[in-house]
Amino acid sequence: MCGIVGYAGGQSALDVVIAGLKRLEYRGYDSAGVAVLADGGLAAAKKAGKLGNLGKLLDERPLPSGTTGIGHTRWATHGGPTDANAHPHLDNSGRVAVVHNGIIENFAALRAELAERGHHLNSETDTEVVAHLLAENFSACGDLAEAMRQVCRRLEGAFTLVAVHADEPDTVVGARRNSPLVVGVGDGENFLASDVAAFIEHTREAIELGQDQVVELKRDQVTVTDFDGAPAETRAYHVDWDASAAEKGGYDYFMLKEIAEQPKAVADTLLGRIDEAGRLTLDEVRIPDHVLREVDKVVIVACGTAYHAGMIAKYAIEHWTRIPCETELASEFRYRDPILDQRTLVVAISQSGETMDTLMALRHAREQGAKVLAICNTNGSTIPRESDAVLYTHAGPEVAVASTKAFLTQLVACYLVALYLGQVRGTKWGDEIRSVIRELSQISTEVEKVLGTMEPVRELARNLADKNTVLFLGRHVGYPVALEGALKLKELAYMHAEGFAAGELKHGPIALIEEDLPVVVVVPSPRGRSVLHDKIVSNIQEIRARGARTIVIAEEGDEAVVPYADHLVRIPATPTLLQPLVATVPLQVFACELATARGNEVDQPRNLAKSVTVE
Ligand code: F6R
Repeated sequence: MCGIVGYAGGQSALDVVIAGLKRLEYRGYDSAGVAVLADGGLAAAKKAGKLGNLGKLLDERPLPSGTTGIGHTRWATHGGPTDANAHPHLDNSGRVAVVHNGIIENFAALRAELAERGHHLNSETDTEVVAHLLAENFSACGDLAEAMRQVCRRLEGAFTLVAVHADEPDTVVGARRNSPLVVGVGDGENFLASDVAAFIEHTREAIELGQDQVVELKRDQVTVTDFDGAPAETRAYHVDWDASAAEKGGYDYFMLKEIAEQPKAVADTLLGRIDEAGRLTLDEVRIPDHVLREVDKVVIVACGTAYHAGMIAKYAIEHWTRIPCETELASEFRYRDPILDQRTLVVAISQSGETMDTLMALRHAREQGAKVLAICNTNGSTIPRESDAVLYTHAGPEVAVASTKAFLTQLVACYLVALYLGQVRGTKWGDEIRSVIRELSQISTEVEKVLGTMEPVRELARNLADKNTVLFLGRHVGYPVALEGALKLKELAYMHAEGFAAGELKHGPIALIEEDLPVVVVVPSPRGRSVLHDKIVSNIQEIRARGARTIVIAEEGDEAVVPYADHLVRIPATPTLLQPLVATVPLQVFACELATARGNEVDQPRNLAKSVTVE
């Protein structure tokens, strides 16, 4: 969601801020704006639409040049994506500019109060009140950081705020509660941003800001306090990827690049976690073994694609550890009064580490005494910082809004957690666990093989570009894969797509089947759990008999499906529980190609944001 950039240094603030905003485009937005401090004053420009629109405005009405500035890409919440609602927001004197990510819940009361004191507010946003309050407080105390602290103490909700004041021409002030904000520490220049991508081309040294902190940024100084002005603790870290990792590298879309990067992402996530004897060594899981042995329930919370990874993890955890496991949508979790205690292990899965629903779910779990293990891809983000332990996925930056490589690495991390719990607790599946660990260590080669066979899938997708609906069926771990295939198609191709557990077909969804309706079926391995395999082959026959066009994803060597497949997509044989790692890839390619064929914006689908920082 909203992207924020602040800069204090020696370069043109406008250039640095616009370049930073471009790198944050992937977060999703519908308007953009900038403000720079120059010639003793403050100049701002903002425009609805993409950054190109703002660029045109700046060409027509250039801003004076200055070396301190802020910028914003807005994903509309309060008020539509109009010029007036775009950030920055200024006070009536035009001396203060502020940008904001999050929601200020008590804005209506503050707005009424400001109106009574004679302020004129010009937008429908919750943010504008902050500009006016900052101006008032600054007039009284003459210090922007102090004014920010005073204002923050009055705000309710989630917010990252970044502001400048014309009377403090070398200073940018930021504040954070719940929403993300990171400092980039350069040489004679410093940065503030929603995430490190915004400043990665200038510096890889970052400081993670904590909850309820205010930062004052000058070109050679960074000062962090809490909301009361006491010095605050922060964590400095080195970003382990560089600017090239966040570029398209010759691909038309980030999504294509990220799909292609999956074998490496999977291998990187396994790297150093399996020792020579084939045992897992998850040193970073700081929850002691004796605590893990006492766990009597695992609860997984996540949203969207990460939730699908969690659904698959449930099968793995219950099978390998025999611990009951529930997977729950993070957005529903805390509202149903879940039963949790010290023996519950909550696993929070999040690529961004900033998803508000997941964050709120983990806070609720910790309040009830549960231990929380985060599976996360973003160093320095809020979810791992607030968890008892974290297992990082090493997918590298995921820029396309639709999650691909992060999903596969979340799966790997989930398998590692399940296998590790099995290893620590010494379940009766010891031999199977050892054999799966061996298979897992080879799995990136299998993902690579799938990627090499995707041309027929692309061709099929192009041929289906005029369809309105596609259904996805699966059983066992193939069911969450079907849901993930449907989600990818919805968000990218804007098509009606639904995933079902194939066994549920006859309980309703089969009524949807009509002549030539494409139905993708993820077929379980014929080995091992062959009962399920045979049942799904019957399901394929049932839908085909009613006219469906069957697109069957099945293991190499599975001949039973051949007579019933209008289109057959082969995937390598893997242990049943690991099949999602190879079965999901064709569905990602299918959705991406269909989106392209329909002329959609692949990397930034409409209405979506990469990092969902509001509930
Ligand atoms: C879909 C997608 C989303 C995210 C969800 C959670 O392709 O990317 O469904 O998976 O918004 O995001 P994270 O993992 O950042 O918590």
